Amino acid sequence: MAKTIQAIRGMNDCLPSQSPLWQKLESTIKNVVSAYGYSEVRMPIVEATHLFSRAIGEVTDVVEKEMYTFDDRNGDSLTLRPEGTAGCVRAGIENGLLYNQEHRLWYIGPMFRHERPQKGRYRQFHQFGVEVFGLNGPDVDAELIMMTARMWRELGIAEHVRLELNSIGSPQARANYRQALVDFLMQHESVLDEDSKRRMQTNPLRVLDTKNADIQAILVDAPQLGDYLDDESKQHFARLCELLDAAGIEYQVNHRLVRGLDYYNRTVFEWITDSLGAQGTVCGGGRYDGLVEQLGGKATPAVGFAMGLERLVLMLENLNQDDVRPAVDVYMVTAGEGAMAVGMKLAERLREQVPGLRVMSHFGGGSFKKQFKRADKVGASVALVLGEDEVANGTVALKDLKGGEQQTLNQDEIAASLKALI
Ligand code: HAM
Repeated sequence: MAKTIQAIRGMNDCLPSQSPLWQKLESTIKNVVSAYGYSEVRMPIVEATHLFSRAIGEVTDVVEKEMYTFDDRNGDSLTLRPEGTAGCVRAGIENGLLYNQEHRLWYIGPMFRHERPQKGRYRQFHQFGVEVFGLNGPDVDAELIMMTARMWRELGIAEHVRLELNSIGSPQARANYRQALVDFLMQHESVLDEDSKRRMQTNPLRVLDTKNADIQAILVDAPQLGDYLDDESKQHFARLCELLDAAGIEYQVNHRLVRGLDYYNRTVFEWITDSLGAQGTVCGGGRYDGLVEQLGGKATPAVGFAMGLERLVLMLENLNQDDVRPAVDVYMVTAGEGAMAVGMKLAERLREQVPGLRVMSHFGGGSFKKQFKRADKVGASVALVLGEDEVANGTVALKDLKGGEQQTLNQDEIAASLKALI
């Protein structure tokens, strides 16, 4: 027998048993963003490699180690998008959306990073992201955070996520801080591991993210980024905190939160859960006021976030928030070919009369017993039964599959009894 072909490691199928929960998650968050007036944007999955190296930064984990990059048949270097912000900015510049305009956008789709797969971390994963262009105040930063808080409430996970917040200031403030941090790290070089030594040279702020407990211990005395912030960034951050306080959103200021992508300035934030082990960041974002200009557009302030949908699905499952309406409401059970034709016609009529009702017809024949088993298997709450008598009389038997009662109704009147199912 030929060897079966398997999916690529870290890239998962979403099976029919899982898709209802994904759909529930996606429709909940889409409803939230549309309640704030945001519009969808769709970008290609593949972009020119230098878009990502320029936007995300040459010395980031994503660009150094994690991108799926290949030459196409013309010899052009292309990359499967590791995130959505770079492509969204590219699309905005290219289509003239960012010139003296304001846009509030969202997107959803697969992203690719060649990381070591583990629970909550995959090589193909899905993000839901939001990007706002043309607004520079802390009010929109606050709105994005309020919007995410609303999503957690509507998903029933608000009690299980916490918000960490920081300001990383202007590029100049960060350059000053970077020097102070390097000076400090040099004094403790003997404690640093290889990774941190390398980062100290290339991207020292990332040393603050270390998981190494010995290094974390020395970092307690390290200079703090907050002490190096420029005045405008300080005011922006203070106002953001006020707005969040006024909205009743709890947060913890984490001076070591710097995020792993280079384009950020001022506000950065992460929503974290302790319920998923090591991969606990379910959503991350911040301001990136310099990126549009850096990628060739006119200077445009911008802010956004993205959330990892696999992580949210895992949380919903862990917290038993995964009740979803089964894919089928009504199962059409029929005896013989004549009844089957009547059944299909009745099913069509019901789909018109009760919008949103999901009706599945039984195919392949077999006894009533077999058909009822199938109805249970697909999760239907009602079976409509058409035997010879019903066909002859223009009636149909309605069997409540949860409660067990059965009644016979006129085919013309059945729609009213099914409205309650949606
Ligand atoms: P990020 O922090 O790299 O930010 O990713 C955002 C979220 O995507 C993470 O918090 C996590 O939930 C999820 N995620 C990332 N990598 C993986 C993975 N390998 N497997 C599963 N989930 C993952 C960004 O991508 C920025 N573009 C966010 C942003 C938008 N900032 C401003 N605008």
